[in-house]
Amino acid sequence: MGVAPLAAAGRRPVAVVTGGARRLGRHLCLSLGARGYDVVCLYRASGEDALALVSELSAGGAGARALQVDVSSRASVAAVFADIGRHEGRVDLLVNNVGNYNPQDVTALDPDVWDATIGANLSGAYYCCYHALSLMPDGGQIVSIGMAGLEGIRANRRGADYYVSKTGLLVLTRALAAGYADRQIRVNMISPGQLENSIDLPSPDQMGDTVPLARAGTLEDVAQALHYLLDASYVTGANIDVAGGYRL
Ligand SMILES: NC(=O)c1ccc[n+]([C@@H]2O[C@H](COP(=O)([O-])OP(=O)(O)OC[C@H]3O[C@@H](n4cnc5c(N)ncnc54)[C@H](OP(=O)(O)O)[C@@H]3O)[C@@H](O)[C@H]2O)c1
Repeated sequence: MGVAPLAAAGRRPVAVVTGGARRLGRHLCLSLGARGYDVVCLYRASGEDALALVSELSAGGAGARALQVDVSSRASVAAVFADIGRHEGRVDLLVNNVGNYNPQDVTALDPDVWDATIGANLSGAYYCCYHALSLMPDGGQIVSIGMAGLEGIRANRRGADYYVSKTGLLVLTRALAAGYADRQIRVNMISPGQLENSIDLPSPDQMGDTVPLARAGTLEDVAQALHYLLDASYVTGANIDVAGGYRL
């Protein structure tokens, strides 16, 4: 039996956000709560931040829960979505926000780092898509967070594992968009450039060297793109760079 349409369920739509307790994920959770979603914040280690977020969302009128998961573990992801199936009973929107960046030169790239990055950023996103789709009604959505500059598949000596994971996420996004279009499920990607909280942000006077708009992106810049996609009923399989023209 499929997941009931929202009107029949008489409920707010449910958004699940991975890596939702802090930084960009937290901002997206709050933005979705304000838009009318009940929010399930998935976190790994930031339990206190996740509980504080749940309080803030609840105070704003949203239903909210925080659940611990390691997205790189198939069993952990299966267990958390089974919990969501029992409690929320549906996933109207999945945001794959987890994205670990531990850059090393490719000539010194440790296989453990490779496995961890691919496991969390790519396999983890797929595990979440797999389980979310079984709880998703027709017309649901998946949005994955990538990294701008993907289309060129440019050689990056530092962080090859990260760029492989994000490029793979784009390929997965496009395949799922094609595969689930018959159910009007839309699958898209948002690719930030360098956000204001980036760990390797250039100095303000050097920002214009790689970013034509010459400023770091804000968390709200990314949220704006998410809200665009939520409304854009004819957009699927797309990647939106939110990057000030990064490396055009
Ligand atoms: N910040 C930027 O400048 C920038 C630029 C381009 C793209 N992006 C992308 O935007 C997204 C968010 O960036 P961010 O900087 O806000 O991310 P972040 O702080 O590095 O990570 C987000 C969260 O991911 C969670 N996480 C990591 N591994 C996990 C695992 N195995 N299982 C479950 N959760 C896990 C962590 O949760 P806990 O804290 O609970 O452990 C962490 O808080 C990422 O996909 C990133 O690649 C960011």
